[in-house]
Amino acid sequence: MSAGTLPEGQVQAMFDRIAGVYDAMNSVMTAGLHHRWRRRAVDLAAVGPGSKVLDVATGTGDLAIEAASRGAEVVGSDFSEKMLERARAKAPHIRFEQADALALPYPDDAFDAATVGFGARNFADLGRGLAEMARVVRPGGRVVVLEITQPTRPPLSTFFSLWFDRLVPLAGRLAGDPDAYTYLPSSVKRFPGPRELAAEMERAGLGELRWILTGGGIIALHAGTVLPARPAEA
Ligand SMILES: C[S@@+](CC[C@H](N)C(=O)[O-])C[C@H]1O[C@@H](n2cnc3c(N)ncnc32)[C@H](O)[C@@H]1O
Repeated sequence: MSAGTLPEGQVQAMFDRIAGVYDAMNSVMTAGLHHRWRRRAVDLAAVGPGSKVLDVATGTGDLAIEAASRGAEVVGSDFSEKMLERARAKAPHIRFEQADALALPYPDDAFDAATVGFGARNFADLGRGLAEMARVVRPGGRVVVLEITQPTRPPLSTFFSLWFDRLVPLAGRLAGDPDAYTYLPSSVKRFPGPRELAAEMERAGLGELRWILTGGGIIALHAGTVLPARPAEA
């Protein structure tokens, strides 16, 4: 478990608790922009009709829904049953199932791409979660990570700190769950920056790393390609 990360059981319980307000909070906190970022994430996954996609830590399913809208066959997995209930109600045509991102119940090379939106930050072991995503994607397929990142330079860093340290916890208090929306900024602060995340993805077995910053520098989209397995050394 990386420093400052909550134990898995607590993260799962927190998402079970906030499932009912999650979608509304996303729209309030991002002024609806999160749908645009999800479209870009699915563009980076390079999937279309006939592709098989796994959306890890799918939550209420918005990224899975975006991938399915491109004609892909999508599985969404998450360890919070309450978040999955919301996802299933929104998109009965998508397979949503309970699974731990750190021990995915899928064989090697089962998918053409794997995505994770605003989920990697919650992994108790980021390297292991990324390695699991890389394992279940075939060589040549993509792994895409959509995350919030911290701008380092003013004026955006000033805006970010006002928005995240003051407005988000306030909105969380109004929504009835101050703890969850205090956890959110702290989880972003301890998450690796764009360059470090790319290095972590490389360590997980991905190549051709690239990333895009958007949303005024607060959103990072990373994509890597699963490398062919190296022949075993003689
Ligand atoms: C902030 S929500 C993101 C949901 C969704 N991907 C989205 O883009 O809105 C984080 C999700 O990650 C899930 N999660 C965190 N750690 C997980 C793990 N180890 N295995 C499975 N799901 C996990 C939580 O249950 C929660 O639904």
